[in-house]
Amino acid sequence: MNDMDDFIYSQYLVNYPKKREFEELFHAYQSPAQRDTYVNDTAMAAFYMLTRGMSIMGVMDKIIRENQDVFNDVESVVDFGGGPGTFLFALSKFKTLNKYTNVEWSGAFIDILNALVEKYLSSSIPQLHVDTISCSYLGMESKDIPKNDLSVFSYTLCEYDNSLVGISDLVENSNTVLIIEPGTPLGFNNVIQARDKLIENGFSVIAPCTASNGFCPLRNSESDWCHFIARLDRSRIQKHLKKGVLGYEDEKYSYLLMSKSPTHSEGKRIISRPNITKHSVSFDVCSEKSGHIILTKKENKDKFKTVKKSIRGSLYSE
Ligand SMILES: C[S@@+](CC[C@H](N)C(=O)[O-])C[C@H]1O[C@@H](n2cnc3c(N)ncnc32)[C@H](O)[C@@H]1O
Repeated sequence: MNDMDDFIYSQYLVNYPKKREFEELFHAYQSPAQRDTYVNDTAMAAFYMLTRGMSIMGVMDKIIRENQDVFNDVESVVDFGGGPGTFLFALSKFKTLNKYTNVEWSGAFIDILNALVEKYLSSSIPQLHVDTISCSYLGMESKDIPKNDLSVFSYTLCEYDNSLVGISDLVENSNTVLIIEPGTPLGFNNVIQARDKLIENGFSVIAPCTASNGFCPLRNSESDWCHFIARLDRSRIQKHLKKGVLGYEDEKYSYLLMSKSPTHSEGKRIISRPNITKHSVSFDVCSEKSGHIILTKKENKDKFKTVKKSIRGSLYSE
């Protein structure tokens, strides 16, 4: 899949005449709930995959790597608003799936998904069955959704104000749920609302929350929200399409991984950027009490050495 961006560019974008529409789509994604982000043109869907999908795939890679034991058990996925199959291609780098169902209302995205599956997965994963349900997932009932190991909502709840209304029904047939949203206050708000609803439906948080009893130290914060950052390399084509000069970008995201099985965490999640000096490191952790940790070199040299390599999102063990 290393040449995926070359393939998409040469197949769909090299001679595309309506380049102004790309800028409009970019603009729309800056506040998706207020603007029309519906994609009905295959080249636009290809453009999405190269400029947004590849970055989101980098975020997914990070979440999968950090929770490999959870994703190892996944054989079937229902991806709500799965677009060009971003999650399918991210997970396929780690494991082979048996069934992937994309509930997606845009035919243009489904065309790109099918072309990419044919090119990159059909022969390498012959047992993979890819299915699409071409409709809006808003208002779908659980009886319309196949039983699955994992439900995914990636960068799709942010597209509508009321997108969370039916989420409990949508995930009824799943053991595990993954939600990824832009790392903005709005994205975090969707994550926390979804978390409340899923807790009511018997799900427990696997990541990122490590505070117990459903507590969230950032829920009522006026200055911060729970988000993380993935630093991602940009390919030559991505740099060209995004008119960027840097060889990397920082993608901010909020996320939630939940399971119907009981969960436990190996430490406390670091939820601020660690402040590192020569003699100390300090940061906030996701905890129901004493959320600010200060660790000095004098107190414990070895621990200081390890902990100062932590970043926002790392787990801290006492
Ligand atoms: C920003 S894209 C995200 C695509 C993919 N999940 C990803 O992470 O790259 C949002 C996707 O959700 C789809 N979508 C939005 N609302 C939908 C709805 N109500 N029913 C089905 N698909 C929807 C859009 O067509 C688009 O493919």
